[in-house]
Amino acid sequence: MKVAVIGGGSTYTPELIDGFARLSEVLPITELWLVDPNESRLELVSGLARRIFSRAGHTGIIKTTSVVADGVSDADIVLIQLRVGGQAARHGDETFPHKGCCIGQETTGPGGFAKALRTVPVVLDIAETVREKAKPGAWIIDFTNPVGIVTRALQQAGHRTVGLCNVAIGFQRKFADLLGTDHSNVSLNHVGLNHLTWELGVNLRTDQGTRDVLPELLKSNIDHIASDVRMPQALLRLQGAVPSYYLRYYYLHDTVLGEQQYGRSRAQEVQEVESALLAKYADPSLAVKPEELSQRGGAFYSEAAVDLMASLTSNRGDTQIVNVRNDGALPFLPDDHVIEVPAVIQSGKLTVQPIAPLPEDMRGLISAVAGYERLALDAALHGGRDRVVRAMLAHPLVGQYEKAERLTDLLLAENQQYLTWA
Ligand code: G6P
Ligand code: MN
Repeated sequence: MKVAVIGGGSTYTPELIDGFARLSEVLPITELWLVDPNESRLELVSGLARRIFSRAGHTGIIKTTSVVADGVSDADIVLIQLRVGGQAARHGDETFPHKGCCIGQETTGPGGFAKALRTVPVVLDIAETVREKAKPGAWIIDFTNPVGIVTRALQQAGHRTVGLCNVAIGFQRKFADLLGTDHSNVSLNHVGLNHLTWELGVNLRTDQGTRDVLPELLKSNIDHIASDVRMPQALLRLQGAVPSYYLRYYYLHDTVLGEQQYGRSRAQEVQEVESALLAKYADPSLAVKPEELSQRGGAFYSEAAVDLMASLTSNRGDTQIVNVRNDGALPFLPDDHVIEVPAVIQSGKLTVQPIAPLPEDMRGLISAVAGYERLALDAALHGGRDRVVRAMLAHPLVGQYEKAERLTDLLLAENQQYLTWA
C-alpha cells in the first residue's frame, strides 16, 4: 500500500510514523511519501522516520518530495495535515480576535474562520492533484483544521474523503483508564460537529454485556473529568454529558478571554516545543518518538489515523468516530453537512449510526455553528468581504453586527497575504 502525507514535514509526523511502525500488521505500508514545501524540515523528519521504521523492522520505504504530484502518484491513501502560514499565522488567529472582544483560537470563532479562509483553497488544489494522480478510489483523510469545514469542501468537490480528529479517541482512552479496562472495551456515544462535541454515553463492554456507565463516571470521577476539560463540575452534571474542551470557548467565553490577555499564545508555546523537537530529530542516535511530542495536543492521533486507514482499506466493519456527511442522522441539519459521530466502516463505505434526539441546548448550538460553517465555506470558496461579514455575524461567539464588522476588518488585515481576493 502506498500512503502520502501532505504536510509530512510537520513535527507531528513521528507520532504518525510511530503508529505505522507499531501497527504495521493492520496497515501494510510498502511506500510512504512525506510531502512538504519545507525541505530542511523534511530532511530532519524523514531521517527520524526512517530510523523508527528500521528499529521496528518495518520494511516500508520512506521517500520525500516537495512536489505534491510526485508524492501522491498511485497513492492508496493521502493524509492531509498541513497548516497554511505555519505557527506565525496561528499566532494571528489566536490574537487578532481579542481586539474585537472575542476569544482567539485556531479552530473556534474568528481565528478558526481565518484559518478556514486560508486553508480551503490550498487543500482543494492539492485534492485536484490527488484526483489526477492517485489510484482511482484513493481516500483523502483530512486532519487539517478546521476539519468540519475542510472535509465538507472536499466532499462538495466530489472527493472520497473523511475527516479525522483525536478528541474522541482521547476521551475513549481517558475513560478506559478511569474504568481500569482496555480501551477496546469502551465505545462512546459522541455527537456534534468537529470541535463542538459532547460525550452523551460511555458504553462499557463486559462479560455481562454492554451498558452505559457515563452516569456512574459522572458520580465517581466528576472532579477528574471536569478538570480535564477545564469546565465546572456543575456544568457537566447539569448536562449529564461531557463537553469537549473546545466547548470551554463557548460556555466560559469571558473567562477564557480574560485568561488570554495574559501570557503567551498557544502558537508561541508550540513554536518552542517545535524547536526542541527539531533539535532532537536531528540527533542520528534517536530512533523513537521523543517524549516532548506528548506536549502537543495530538495525543493518540496516530492510533486514530492508523485504525481509520486500516478500516477504509479492508473489511473490518468496525465503528470509528469520524467526520462524515450527515445524511439525515441529525435531522435538523442539511444532509450535506459534515458531522462528527460514530460510523460503521465497511467495504469502503461509512454509515452513520442512528442518533437519539439531542437535548435542545446542544441542538441549538450545533445548528448555529453549522450555519456559520456553511457561510464560512461559502466565503472561503468565493471570497468577498460581504460573505466574510455574514459568516462572522452568524458565529454564536460574535452575533452582533458592529462586532462582526470590526472582526472582519481585523481578520482581513491579518491575512491579506493569504487571501488573493482581499
Ligand atoms: C487537538 C485537536 C487538533 C489540534 C491540536 C492542537 O489534537 O484535536 O485538531 O490541531 O489539538 O495541538 P497543539 O499542540 O498544536 O496545540
Ligand atoms: Mn481536532
